[in-house]
Amino acid sequence: MTKNHFLELHQVSSSYGRVNVLQDLSFHVNEGESVGILGRNGVGKTTTLKTIMGLLPCQHGSVSFFGNTLNTLAPHQIPHLGIGYVPQGRGIFPNLSVKENLYLGAKRTVSQAVVDSIFHRFPRLQERLTQLGGTLSGGEQQMLSIARCLIMEPKLLILDEPTEGIMPKLVHDIRAEIKRINAQGITILLVEQNVKTALELCSRILVMDKGKIVFEASSESIRANPSALSQHLEIKI
Ligand SMILES: Nc1ncnc2c1ncn2[C@@H]1O[C@H](COP(=O)(O)OP(=O)(O)OP(=O)(O)O)[C@@H](O)[C@H]1O
Ligand SMILES: [Mg+2]
Repeated sequence: MTKNHFLELHQVSSSYGRVNVLQDLSFHVNEGESVGILGRNGVGKTTTLKTIMGLLPCQHGSVSFFGNTLNTLAPHQIPHLGIGYVPQGRGIFPNLSVKENLYLGAKRTVSQAVVDSIFHRFPRLQERLTQLGGTLSGGEQQMLSIARCLIMEPKLLILDEPTEGIMPKLVHDIRAEIKRINAQGITILLVEQNVKTALELCSRILVMDKGKIVFEASSESIRANPSALSQHLEIKI
C-alpha cells in the first residue's frame, strides 16, 4: 500500500433508484490528513459518505481503504476495518441509554484505557451514562456519536456536518475535539457547510458540485487567496 491510497475513491457513480447523484467521483485522503468536503445543499456530500460506508451501492468505480476494496464488502464489515462514521443528524438511538449507545458497535472487549480516554474527552457523557440518548442536547448527542466511533479505535473518522444546529459553546468544544483527534493520529474526512470550520480543522479542502469534485486546494492556499474557493461556492469568504 502506498501512502497515497489510504482512502481512495476512483470514478465512483452511485444513485437513488434512477436518480444519479455521484458521477465519476474521484478523490483520495492520505493517512494522517484532515480533509474537508464543502458544497451547497444537495450536491451529494452525504451520498459520498454513505457510498464509502457501503450504505449505498457503488454502481461504477471503486472505493478502497488500507488495501481493502470496500465496495465488495457488506456495510457491517466496514467499521471493523477501522472507519468510524458520524452521520448527518447523529444517528443516536433515542430509547437506549448513553452507555448502550456507546457500546453498540463495539464487538470485542473494550480496553479501560480507551474508555478512560473517551470520558476524558467528553466528561459530559460520563456524567450522563444512564440518561436516554434522546434526552441529550444536540451537542451532547454529537459527542456521543463521535465517542461511539472512538470506542472502535478507528484509523479514519468520517463526520457529516458535526456542528450543524448545535449551540455555539458546544460547537467550539466539538471543533476542538476533532482537531485533537486528528493531532493524535486519526485521519479525518469532514463534510462541512461552514467554510471557516472547514479551514480551521482541515489541511485540504475539496468542493463538490453535482456529484463531482470541482475544486481542490490546501487550506493554506485558500487563506492566502480565498477568491477561487468563494467563486466555486458562490459565497463571500
Ligand atoms: N434516500 C434518497 N432517495 C432519493 N434521493 C435522495 C435520497 N437521499 C438523497 N437524495 C438526493 O440526492 C441528492 C444528494 O443528496 P445528499 O444528501 O448527498 O446531499 P448533501 O450534499 O449531503 O446535501 P446537504 O448539504 O443538504 O446535507 C439530493 O438531490 C437529494 O435529494
Ligand atoms: Mg448532507
